[in-house]
Amino acid sequence: MATESILPQSPAKAAPTSGEGLKVAIRFRPLSESERQAGAYEAFRRDESCPKRVVVEDSRSGEDFVFHHVFPPTTSNEEVFNSLVDLEPLISGIHTTIFAYGVTGSGKTHTMLGDGRGDEGIVQRTVRALFEELARHSDRRAQGGSTLGGGAGARAPPPWGSALSFSVRVGVMQVYDLGVDDLLAGRPVAIKSCEAVGLLQPAVAGPEDTMALIARGVAARKTAATNKNDTSSRSHLLVRLTLEASPSPDAAGGVAAGTLSRLTLVDLAGSESAEASAGMPNQQQRQQEGAQINGSLLQLQRVFTALAERSGYRAFRGNRLTELLNESLVGAGARMTMICAASPARLARDRDPTLSTLRFARTGTRITIRARRNVVINAEVGRGGC
Ligand SMILES: Nc1ncnc2c1ncn2[C@@H]1O[C@H](COP(=O)(O)OP(=O)(O)O)[C@@H](O)[C@H]1O
Ligand SMILES: [Mg+2]
Repeated sequence: MATESILPQSPAKAAPTSGEGLKVAIRFRPLSESERQAGAYEAFRRDESCPKRVVVEDSRSGEDFVFHHVFPPTTSNEEVFNSLVDLEPLISGIHTTIFAYGVTGSGKTHTMLGDGRGDEGIVQRTVRALFEELARHSDRRAQGGSTLGGGAGARAPPPWGSALSFSVRVGVMQVYDLGVDDLLAGRPVAIKSCEAVGLLQPAVAGPEDTMALIARGVAARKTAATNKNDTSSRSHLLVRLTLEASPSPDAAGGVAAGTLSRLTLVDLAGSESAEASAGMPNQQQRQQEGAQINGSLLQLQRVFTALAERSGYRAFRGNRLTELLNESLVGAGARMTMICAASPARLARDRDPTLSTLRFARTGTRITIRARRNVVINAEVGRGGC
């Protein structure tokens, strides 16, 4: 099994492309049985006359919530995937991150990993789509055609032209209790300059072996029962696919450029109040975990606010989650999609969890991320650093 980069090391160039906003989607789940029994109803809804807007029943604040996508409770995982996932930037060398945010029980894991009963989530669907895309590029290449770009309004063509081969590696990590664990190797990983050092990343040949490794990592993830969710995720899960488009000698006898890009799929642990684990077994440990989870999500919120306000404050350091997401937000440049999962029920007048999620999501819509293609000239990609 390959464990680390397969390309020789030397400085890389990041070719700038246009800045683009963080794409923000809201996904409402159906009302839960307990919400129904408590008499809850859909107080947060998609505005059908303006489907990017969320209407809040009985909102006195008059806040306006407009996003790139708003998915009503009837939306399937397949529809979410089809609307949000675009692998073309990744394949042309741009780091891509998709992550689910929301309080415990809002539907993050359902969205990212599926329902565990056959309805696959974003992770599995993206893995399949990636290998299908790579096969399509290889077919087109075999027929002598260009593999990307082309067409009116297309993005700049990739630097590697049509002569290259792809390789994919997969790693699975969790951020838990101030540390980061390599879930495939079963050991902690050190974070240096916002990089997971020595993460085990076996080479994979297709969707089945990739999915088997991801399933192994997910099975090792920390979960526990809380009052909100029988299998509450107690850690932030990061699935990382590294794609290398390797160059081969070009027609002029020189060395063509290749790219190295990462796809990071994140299922965050949800923020929660202390009541979520009140009276549960190991209550103290659950509440300590809850405090750690809340702390790292708070840091993520600070980073988002700073990026939205362009204030120059970049609080990535000292928090494992934001360090690992640094590359996606400011480092080597990236495309990022955030799916905010939420209940459609209004649970509290003032500190309502769905309202807080919508406010955080709105901060995300004000962030612009530079996306740069990570060009590799016989070398490994530039590192994000922080
Ligand atoms: N879109 C959805 N459709 C149907 N059930 C959902 C949906 N989203 C979440 N659920 C259900 O709600 C519960 C909590 O979802 P989960 O994804 O585990 O929450 P989280 O990961 O945010 O804590 C689970 O029983 C899940 O099956
Ligand atoms: Mg979860």
